[in-house]
Amino acid sequence: MGTAGDEREGTTQGSPADDRPWGRTEQAEAFDAIGDRYDEAFPHKEGQLAAAEWLAASVPPGSRVLDLGCGTGLPTAGQLVDAGLRVVGVDLSAGMVARASANVPKAEFVQADIADLPAGEPLTQGGFAGVAAFFSLLMLRRAEIPSTLRAVHALLEPGGLLALSMVEADVDDVPIPFLGHTIRVSGYLRDELRQVVTDAGFEVIEEDAYSYAPASTDVPPELQVFLRCRRR
Ligand SMILES: C[S@@+](CC[C@H](N)C(=O)[O-])C[C@H]1O[C@@H](n2cnc3c(N)ncnc32)[C@H](O)[C@@H]1O
Repeated sequence: MGTAGDEREGTTQGSPADDRPWGRTEQAEAFDAIGDRYDEAFPHKEGQLAAAEWLAASVPPGSRVLDLGCGTGLPTAGQLVDAGLRVVGVDLSAGMVARASANVPKAEFVQADIADLPAGEPLTQGGFAGVAAFFSLLMLRRAEIPSTLRAVHALLEPGGLLALSMVEADVDDVPIPFLGHTIRVSGYLRDELRQVVTDAGFEVIEEDAYSYAPASTDVPPELQVFLRCRRR
């Protein structure tokens, strides 16, 4: 894998009218195009299902929860709605937001960058009992992850819960081939991930890891880490 600096040299930034951070337009376009193939490539989601089940069972019945980087809305937003929760989903990709809205009509979806969440309704400070962030923070540069976690902290009510998953890897903003596109990803080794989450004001209650082989040969096997966290 190359480094971010190597890859950025000589590449074209977004159009002048696009003030999103470098690479966001490409990231959004990749997921617009990937669409439902994401769910086909990652079919067995035991870790994710279990983490969302924990979240749903641990927040008060009927409370508001946020799905950060919701993708197609399946399985997570759907699972949380089925558990009787009021769900808001956020994704950078307009295509993913459209799919999620069709797949989970009872949830509310917002197209936004999780590193720069719009203030106010429906993303009210302290307005959520729980947040699911499955494989979405890894779409950011490492420099953006601590501030995004602090923003998540502020969105949660005191004692609110965060179910977080990442792929374990010591990388920062590296390009990887992904279902016929190039996306950029970041990650941490386990101890550092725990530290970043703790520094953002969370207590890590529980942690587990799954070795995962995607159905697509275009995506390499990975070690998925799930943290169950509480806002301190
Ligand atoms: C790997 S998929 C995970 C989808 C879903 N959370 C799941 O695990 O099934 C990552 C999702 O994050 C979205 N995404 C990428 N960068 C983002 C950003 N900066 N802000 C919000 N969403 C982003 C992508 O469009 C994609 O839907």
